[in-house]
Amino acid sequence: MSLPLSTLVRQMPKAELHIHIEGSLEPELIFALAERNRIQLDYDSIEALQRAYAFTDLQSFLDIYYAGASVLLTEQDFFDMTWAYLLRAKQDQIRHAEIFFDPQTHTARGVPFVTAISGIDRALRQGKAELGISSALIMCFLRHLPEEEALATLEQALPYRDMIIGVGLDSSEQDHPPEKFARVFSRCRELGWRRVAHAGEEGPPAYIQTALDMLQVERIDHGVRCLEDPVLVKRIAAQQIPLTVCPLSNVKLRVFDTIADHTLLTLLDHGLLVTVNSDDPAYFGGYLNDNFVAVFDALPLHRKHAYQLARNSFEAAFLDADAKQRYLAEVDAFFALHPV
Ligand code: ADE
Ligand code: ZN
Repeated sequence: MSLPLSTLVRQMPKAELHIHIEGSLEPELIFALAERNRIQLDYDSIEALQRAYAFTDLQSFLDIYYAGASVLLTEQDFFDMTWAYLLRAKQDQIRHAEIFFDPQTHTARGVPFVTAISGIDRALRQGKAELGISSALIMCFLRHLPEEEALATLEQALPYRDMIIGVGLDSSEQDHPPEKFARVFSRCRELGWRRVAHAGEEGPPAYIQTALDMLQVERIDHGVRCLEDPVLVKRIAAQQIPLTVCPLSNVKLRVFDTIADHTLLTLLDHGLLVTVNSDDPAYFGGYLNDNFVAVFDALPLHRKHAYQLARNSFEAAFLDADAKQRYLAEVDAFFALHPV
């Protein structure tokens, strides 16, 4: 008996490559941590906080997201947040997760870099030991801040460089082009770190191009606006630069009006190495499988696309060749077990 498509996408083994760990902070945990740390929130109930999750664009989301992260003070807080995500990831058959964190959101409030990274790293190690989920940590620079602050953050990260696989670029995209961070990304490349950047989410396709050319990134986060530039699409396809696409995020932040308007299938049809991800699942109405089910319900996607997306998630990951082959073999075995 063949599985219904929605069950197949839920049960298939997969990797998640675009998840901001601070964006996994559920309202219940925000309130629990606020109470534990005796922090007064601007909202007097979980429901009041959730009512504020009515975003009109990226900035309206970021304002709430940074406010939510303000409850994180201790190493245990960062552990609890990360562990909650990993438990949720396990339910979604995530075998490998590459996780963003925003150290500047915490150091700007006086929380030491070591506090944040230690709590996250401890949870990731426990996730490998107890849940069998492999993971990697990507440190993001906040692009609305000056490059000097990114360089200072890089200095703070150096003692923990073995806990980090690479760097990313996030926060407000408009008017903060990738080239603003050319020096810091060049230093990160010298350190042997992998590089990714958010580009072409709200910002123009030109930002995708400069992220590739001036930051030498290896993946583009979002990248959906590449379709406005056919020459760029050809280049991304030829070079097989992965795009970490986040469907529910794109609808919540009004990049697309509805899931039915999402261009995921068009991107796949252009031969791009597309992956599906959750971005900030606590804020956008769903974790990774919710994103998969939403696009498979709304778009004419079939079993072959599920197979492609499961494979792409591991192809695009910063895994060593052996681990990648093992995960890809698991995807193949899963699909062989569940023929049409
Ligand atoms: N930080 C957290 N989520 C983000 C997103 N979708 N775009 C840019 N910065 C972010
Ligand atoms: Zn993101």
